[in-house]
Amino acid sequence: MKKIFLIATAMLCTLALFAQPKLRKDNIDEILKALTLEEKATLLVGGGWGSATAGSMTASSESLVSGAAGTTRPIPRLGIPATVLADGPAGLRINPTRPGTNATFYCTGFPVGTVLASTWNMPLVEKLTTAMGDEVREYGVDVLLAPGQNLHRNPLCGRNFEYFSEDPLLAGKTSAAYIRGVQSNGVGVSAKHFAANDQEVNRQENDSRINTRALRELYLKGFEIAVREADPWTVMSSYNKLNGNYTQQSYDLLTTVLREEWGFKGIVMTDWGNKKGTVAAVKAGNDLMEPGMENEIERIIAGVKDGSISQAELDRNVRNMLEYIVRTPRFQGYKYSNKPDLKAHAKLVHEATAEGLILLENNGVLPLKDVKTVALYGIGSYDFIAGGTGSGNVNKAYVRNVAEGFKANGLEVDADIQTWYEQYIALKKTELRNNAADNGLGILLGDPVVPEMAISRSFIEKKLNATDFAVLTISRNAGEGDDRKAADGDWTLTGQERELLQTLADVYHAAGKKLVVVLNIGGVIETASWKHIPDAILLAWTPGQEGGLAVADVLCGASNPSGKLPMTFPVSYFDIPSSFNFPFNYKGGNSIDMAALLGMGTVRRNPVKDIDYTDYAEGIWVGYRYFATAGKPVSYPFGYGLSYTTFAYSKPAVKVDKNGKVTATVTVTNTGKVAGKEVVELYVTAPDGGLVKPVFELKGFAKTKELRPGASETVTITIDPYTLASFNETTSAWETAAGNYTVHFGASSADIRGAATFKLAKPQSWPVHRVLLPAEPVKEISVK
Ligand code: BGC
Repeated sequence: MKKIFLIATAMLCTLALFAQPKLRKDNIDEILKALTLEEKATLLVGGGWGSATAGSMTASSESLVSGAAGTTRPIPRLGIPATVLADGPAGLRINPTRPGTNATFYCTGFPVGTVLASTWNMPLVEKLTTAMGDEVREYGVDVLLAPGQNLHRNPLCGRNFEYFSEDPLLAGKTSAAYIRGVQSNGVGVSAKHFAANDQEVNRQENDSRINTRALRELYLKGFEIAVREADPWTVMSSYNKLNGNYTQQSYDLLTTVLREEWGFKGIVMTDWGNKKGTVAAVKAGNDLMEPGMENEIERIIAGVKDGSISQAELDRNVRNMLEYIVRTPRFQGYKYSNKPDLKAHAKLVHEATAEGLILLENNGVLPLKDVKTVALYGIGSYDFIAGGTGSGNVNKAYVRNVAEGFKANGLEVDADIQTWYEQYIALKKTELRNNAADNGLGILLGDPVVPEMAISRSFIEKKLNATDFAVLTISRNAGEGDDRKAADGDWTLTGQERELLQTLADVYHAAGKKLVVVLNIGGVIETASWKHIPDAILLAWTPGQEGGLAVADVLCGASNPSGKLPMTFPVSYFDIPSSFNFPFNYKGGNSIDMAALLGMGTVRRNPVKDIDYTDYAEGIWVGYRYFATAGKPVSYPFGYGLSYTTFAYSKPAVKVDKNGKVTATVTVTNTGKVAGKEVVELYVTAPDGGLVKPVFELKGFAKTKELRPGASETVTITIDPYTLASFNETTSAWETAAGNYTVHFGASSADIRGAATFKLAKPQSWPVHRVLLPAEPVKEISVK
C-alpha cells in the first residue's frame, strides 16, 4: 500500500514538472514565459500559401477551411490553436466544394463595397455584414479579410469596387458599420489595405508620395474613423510604400499613428507576400506575416539573436497575437455548422440591394408602366456581373441576371433575343477560356468578360413590334492586380456599344417606345457623351448575387431606388486632377506584380513616375473637393441620385454647444406619390483658419426611414469639433478654426436645399506626431 502511494506521488510530481500551461484568456503572461524563441517566431508567421487547404498544417489537429487565404500557426503544446483568415470583402471567399464530400460550401455574394457606400444607410450596412459575419463564423473562419477601404483617389483603380468612396467620412462611416456588423458575430475583420494603396499597377513596389495634410485628411481618415468607432480586431498593412517606406515596415504608421494616436488594440498583419524586411516589419508593430513562410520565421529568430529585434519588441507582438487568438471562435472551441442560412441571407441581400442602386436619369419612363414584353439587350442582361475579380470575388452558388429579374416581376423577355445572347455568351466564353494564356493569373483575372455582340439594325427592327420597350445592359469588370484603362471598352464605350445604344434608341423612339440603360459596372465610366440618348439610366454597379432581381425590381417599381453616388462622375477623365499622376494606360501591371508575388523580386528599371512612385500632386483636391471648389462641370456630382418620389426640406436649424458640438436638424417630407427614402447630406464650409480649404466638405449624413407620400421625418445629425478640423502641416496639428461656419443641407453636393450658420468662438487644436513626411514635399497643384 505504502509502495503504491509512493509511486503515485512520484508520478504526480513528474507530471507537475512537465505539465504545460494551456492558453487561457487570463494567463497570457504565463504563456509568454512558457514560449520558446522558436515558438514565438512561429506565432508571428502565418501557415504559408494555401495553408488553409485541409491537411497542410500538420502540427495542428484542427480541421481547417478549404480555400481560406491564410492561417496562423498553432502551438499545440501550449493549447494555442491555428486560426483561419479568409477574404472578403463582398462576402466570405472559400472553396465551394471539397474532395471527399458532396456537401457544398457556397457563400452569399453580397453587394460590393461601393454599393454598400451608395446606400448611405449605415444600419442597413451593419445588418448585411451581420449576416456576412454569420457565414464567417459558421464556416469555421476567424477573421474576414475586409473591409477594403482605400479611397477612390482615381476612378481607374482596379479595386475601387471593393472600396467605398472618394470621401473619407463616408468611407470611414461605412467601414465602421461594416466592421460592427461582422464582429457582432464574435469573429474579426481586417481593415485593409493600410494605407495609400490606391492603384494596382506595381502595387507591391509603388511608392505613394503624399504630403501629410492630404495623407491625414484623406488617406488615413477613413481608417481613423473605423478604428476609433468600430475597434477592428485586425488591420492589414498594404503592399506599397508610403513616402519611401513599405507601410508594413513603418513604425510611424503602424505604431505611432495607428496605436498611439488612434488607440488601435488589435493585431496588424501584412498583405499576402514575403518582403525581405521581416525584421523591420516586426519592429514596426506588424504582428503577423501573411501568408507566412519558413524564411520569415528564420529571419525573426536571427533578428532576436543578433539583437536587431529586442525581447520587448518580440514579446509585444506575441502578446498581441495571443490576445487576438483568445478572442477567436477556434480558440473558444466554437462548433461551427458549415450550414449558414444562405436562403435567409439571399432574401436579405435581395431586399437591401435596391438601396445601393442609383437612378442617374429618368425622363418619366421609370417605373415602367403598361408594358409586358422587354427587348433585353446587352451581355450583362444574361451574364450579370455580381462583383469584381481577384481575392474580392466570392464563390457564390448563383447570380441572378436581369432576365430572371424581369420574369420575377411578371414581364416577358423576348425569347429570340434571349436565346441569341445565351448561345453567343456560351460560345464566346469557351473560346476565351481556351485562348486565355496559362499565365497563372486565373484568380486575379477571373472569368473572361464577353465583349458586346454585333446586332444589326434590321434585327432590332424585326423585334420592335413584339416588344414594348428595350433595355440595354452595359457591363464592365475589374479587379485585383491591374488598373482599368482610359480606353474604349473600359472608361469609354466601344464603337459597337455606342452603335447598339444609338440604334436601339432610334428604332424604339421612332415607334414611341422607350429605352433604358442599366450600368452593370464596378467603377466610374464616361457618361457625358451618351447619357442623353436613353430615357433612363440605372447605375446598378456590381451589386451581388441577387443583383438582376434588384435591378428589375427598381425598373418595375417594386422598389424605389434610394442610392446616391459615393463619388463624382466627371465629364472627362482628364478633368480629374489625379489623372496626371496615375498609370491610366499602363500595360505591364500584372507581370510586375506577379513577379513580386512569387518572390522573384520586381522588374528593375529606372524609377518611372506613377509606376515606381506616384506623386499625389493633387493634394486634398480629390473628387468633389476639387470639382465643387474649382467650379468644374461634372457629369454626375458626388451624392447625386434620383428617386421615384420627391422630397421637400424644411428650413434647417443648427445649434452649437459650449464644447463646439454641432447639432443640425431638418425635416424631410415626401412630396411625391410613392414611398421612398432620402439621404440628407451635410456639407460644411469652414473659416479658413490660415489654410486653403475646399468650398465645403461632407461632415455628416443620414438616411430617412421609408416615408409614405406626405409623411415627414426630422433628421438630426451631430458633428463634433474634431470632425470639423483640417490638418495644418506647419503646426502638425488638427485645427478647428474659430469663426463662422455654414452647414449646407444637400440632396447632393450640387443640390443644396438649405443652409444654416453657426459660430465657433474659440479655435481648437489637436497636435499629432510629425511623422510620415515625404522625403521632399510633393509639389501640389493649386486650385484656389
Ligand atoms: C490582397 C488582399 C487579400 C489577400 C489574401 C492579397 O493579394 O491584396 O486584399 O486579402 O491577397 O487573399
